[in-house]
Amino acid sequence: MPPLLERVGLVVDRIDWHARELMAALRVRGIETVPVRLPRCGFATQTASGLHIDGFNDTLPDAVIVRTMSGGTFEAVTLRLGVLHALRELGVPVWNDARAIERCVDKSMTSFLLSRAGIATPATWATESYEEARAIVQRAAADGPLVLKPLFGSQGRGLMLIRRPEDLPQTEQAAGRVFYLQRFIGAERGGYHDFRVLVVQGRIVAAMQRHSSHWITNIKRGGRPVAVAVNDELKALALRAAKAVGAAFVGVDIIYGADMRPAVLEVNSMPAWSGLQKVTAVNIASVFADCFLEGVGIRNTQGATA
Ligand SMILES: Nc1ncnc2c1ncn2[C@@H]1O[C@H](COP(=O)(O)OP(=O)(O)O)[C@@H](O)[C@H]1O
Ligand SMILES: [Mg+2]
Repeated sequence: MPPLLERVGLVVDRIDWHARELMAALRVRGIETVPVRLPRCGFATQTASGLHIDGFNDTLPDAVIVRTMSGGTFEAVTLRLGVLHALRELGVPVWNDARAIERCVDKSMTSFLLSRAGIATPATWATESYEEARAIVQRAAADGPLVLKPLFGSQGRGLMLIRRPEDLPQTEQAAGRVFYLQRFIGAERGGYHDFRVLVVQGRIVAAMQRHSSHWITNIKRGGRPVAVAVNDELKALALRAAKAVGAAFVGVDIIYGADMRPAVLEVNSMPAWSGLQKVTAVNIASVFADCFLEGVGIRNTQGATA
């Protein structure tokens, strides 16, 4: 069989363990993976595609995986997302699509979509107004604390418990000068626990529980990954959350609240999985590669499965 020429663009900031895992998984399936640095991509309306994609000269990738996308100025991020939007407009499958990335990076939009879809998620407010944030806390804190999160946060950075209006930072000190407030629903049960469920193309690929002595359970903040078999309720919740944001693959954070019912905390459109891999038997990158190639309609030359 002649070698296939399919080339997948892998959007990364750096070639880390995840990128190497994905590249290796695609390589054994006969696919060449080219790292793409979004800051080196852009528009060029005189070219055939109107786009310049890092590493592809005047051609386009057959499909794209967005592994990471770093922050930047509003203009830089708009340009980077614009390139991903344009790829979709040109018919290049992009995982995740820029629309799904936008919905997940903006935690308030995720909260809105989850709750509109009837998916259990803690009550959430988002406002630019310090006065409004104070009023929200004043009203809501009678029923327990709230969590203030950076709207574009990740890895458990910058979260604060808010028990009274005075706990709120001034607008200048608030991340991005906006207030994203969520009802705190955590419960101490010999430490704090929540779940991370990895969904790819409507399939539960892996899941773990995160244990921590702190209420912020992110692995990057010292949370410990623990192998777990997720029940049908959690699976259904994770699948619905992925669908609600329209993403091909997501890491869904789910917690059992004080009322013992599961609720979705957030949906990650660029989830890392090194912690998850430590407690998962299947090779996550392999399963991802199979789902991806099937999903974007690229033939898997090796017919490899996990
Ligand atoms: N509403 C909440 N109630 C209880 N714990 C929460 C809540 N929101 C966040 N946490 C804790 O903080 C962690 C990080 O919050 P998350 O919303 O997932 O943001 P990040 O993008 O930083 O991971 C969660 O995994 C959980 O342990
Ligand atoms: Mg999280």
